[in-house]
Amino acid sequence: MIKEHIASSFEARFGQPHLMVFSPGRLNIIGEHTDYNEGFVFPAAIDKGIYAAFGKCDSELCKVIALDMNESYEFTLDNITPLENGDWRNYVLGVTKGILDAGKKITPFNLVFGGDIPEGAGLSSSAALENAVVFGLNELFDLGLTKEEMIFISQKAEHSFVGVKCGIMDQFASMFGQKNTALLLDCRSISAKSFDIDLQEYQILLINTNVKHSLSESAYNKRRAVCEKVAAILGIQALRDADIPLLESIAEQIPDEEYQMARYVIEENKRTQKAVIAVQANDIAELGQLMYRSHHGLQHQYKVSCEELDFLVDRAKLNPDIAGSRMMGGGFGGCTINMIKKDAVTNYAEKTAAAYLEKFERNCSVYEVSLSQGTHLI
Ligand code: GLA
Repeated sequence: MIKEHIASSFEARFGQPHLMVFSPGRLNIIGEHTDYNEGFVFPAAIDKGIYAAFGKCDSELCKVIALDMNESYEFTLDNITPLENGDWRNYVLGVTKGILDAGKKITPFNLVFGGDIPEGAGLSSSAALENAVVFGLNELFDLGLTKEEMIFISQKAEHSFVGVKCGIMDQFASMFGQKNTALLLDCRSISAKSFDIDLQEYQILLINTNVKHSLSESAYNKRRAVCEKVAAILGIQALRDADIPLLESIAEQIPDEEYQMARYVIEENKRTQKAVIAVQANDIAELGQLMYRSHHGLQHQYKVSCEELDFLVDRAKLNPDIAGSRMMGGGFGGCTINMIKKDAVTNYAEKTAAAYLEKFERNCSVYEVSLSQGTHLI
């Protein structure tokens, strides 16, 4: 068990931990690249994530051990700045700095973490880590932060220490997730409605391409900038407020590439709201079609997919046991999410793994996940 492993590693190094936290990754049924456009998303926390053990310490140094990577890092609480190529360290540093900037008092701490969420899989291991750190420190030092304040500290760490201008979906889903439930999150009001997910004879299957193309971060920020530019030309706060006729009215003023991107966002926002209606009506066929259309838009209009993801979605389309499939998360690698008939999973996973290996000379990974509770003490 990972939890025991983290606890005993902490104990061997620092003595009994004061507390332990589990913070999950997330999936997203639909609503991709809509969050930073103040639109709708439909994510859920999953049963994979980060386990973290915390304790106070007497020295001047905070000591952090990333068990899975067999790496450690020490820092003092004064003058925290981002590291070049800091990887996981920047999430820890960014969140710690965010807490201090919020005027909260903390003293040096020890932290050991690890987990079962693959990095770069589009399952938001980063939000899981950020939330684990902010939630754990909030408990350890009794800071009185609300969950909402915590997710904004997590998001800010990503913006200013990692350099990705992400939306709020990942941090929200990881923090507020509930068992067997997906959350329709309005990213303008930051309020969510919970929906029980009963997929009947279907289940969710994630297939990880095991690739993460290097342009993912710069391309993400570029997409966001295009959306903000188009919204400014339209004279609206965010693309959430646009519809197709409004976009048409400025089509001549922007390059076609930007028109397509903005159009994708407007359409995806609509699809997300339709998907929730389909879920309420137990209409998995309709939900699946919306997912396929989402992928089509991400591939051809928003242009954040890649060959490996398209290969997996194209294969899914040919299989009558799969209602829908699409790439998930920021793009350029990571997972596809598939709605597949339960009794077809084993066979499909085997065949797809073989076909993927033959085509790309690398393995894909298949995960069956369940929808789970958000960040909590364990
Ligand atoms: C990443 C970001 C999220 C969101 C998705 C795309 O996961 O962290 O905020 O924008 O990409 O939907």
